[in-house]
Amino acid sequence: MAVLITGAAGRVGSMLRHRLGDRGWALRYLDRVAVPDDGGAPGRAVVGDVADPARLDEAFRAADGEDAISAVVHLAGQPTEAPWAVVRAANIDGTFELFEAARRHGVRRVVFASSNHAVGFTPRPGDEDTELPDDLPPRPDTLYGVSKVFGEALARYYVDRYGFSVACLRIGSCREAPEQARELATWLSPADLTGLVDGALRAADLTFATVWGVSANDGYRWWSLDGTRALGYRAVDRAADRRPELVAEPGLASDSLVGGVFTTDRFGIDEVGAQGR
Ligand SMILES: NC(=O)c1ccc[n+]([C@@H]2O[C@H](COP(=O)([O-])OP(=O)(O)OC[C@H]3O[C@@H](n4cnc5c(N)ncnc54)[C@H](O)[C@@H]3O)[C@@H](O)[C@H]2O)c1
Repeated sequence: MAVLITGAAGRVGSMLRHRLGDRGWALRYLDRVAVPDDGGAPGRAVVGDVADPARLDEAFRAADGEDAISAVVHLAGQPTEAPWAVVRAANIDGTFELFEAARRHGVRRVVFASSNHAVGFTPRPGDEDTELPDDLPPRPDTLYGVSKVFGEALARYYVDRYGFSVACLRIGSCREAPEQARELATWLSPADLTGLVDGALRAADLTFATVWGVSANDGYRWWSLDGTRALGYRAVDRAADRRPELVAEPGLASDSLVGGVFTTDRFGIDEVGAQGR
């Protein structure tokens, strides 16, 4: 069976194009830019906007000889704070059209790239032994975070009304290697990303789940791995092993909240709009 990856040309999409095929999945792609020919798994790629139903139909419909799509990994969208019009077009309209296309084509399993910024104004645990649970209620830190809360709510609606199975991954910082001190706690390695997505695609008893997308990060992690384990995957990587030279920098005000710098005044509506982003 085949998996459609939206946003396949991007950072997270590229990690999955290079790794998910090894887990036995045939892959197909949709992105508004061309998917690079960079050694990732081969797969028919549709270039188009995720809010465009015609392009989505093209991506979902199996051509002669292709496997039917059985699941979607929905990554396409605006991946950081931006003016509302930008966030709305990609993450609100785009995510709605994605779910509608899945429904039209009889696809019921979706892995949705949510974000820690859906709950960014949640205080971090003070006690190092405490982990924040996978199902924290919404506390978005930006309009971007609001759009991820929307995506999670839309997912829940399609589960309850149309029998979908959806895992919403509240991803921390997914990159090849951690880049800053915060990521000692929040890093999601490419290998753990792949294991988590594969688990979410296969989990037999999945109806709806919000799950932290984070590596094991022993000694630093603030987030529970219970949800990840319930999907059948045990995260293994540790940011501090990948970048031993990174040193935790306690004391920054934004460090006390899950969303880090996104919770600061710099990411207010006026500030982001004024920057013209
Ligand atoms: N990378 C992380 O640490 C992280 C953390 C939390 C959540 N996420 C989420 O994961 C997803 C992927 O993030 P990323 O870091 O790979 O971002 P990215 O910008 O590298 O990739 C996003 C991809 O989506 C495509 N895209 C954007 N708008 C589109 C549209 N309207 N139609 C079709 N394609 C569109 C872009 O062309 C790009 O290839 C996003 O939804 C992001 O919010 C990522």
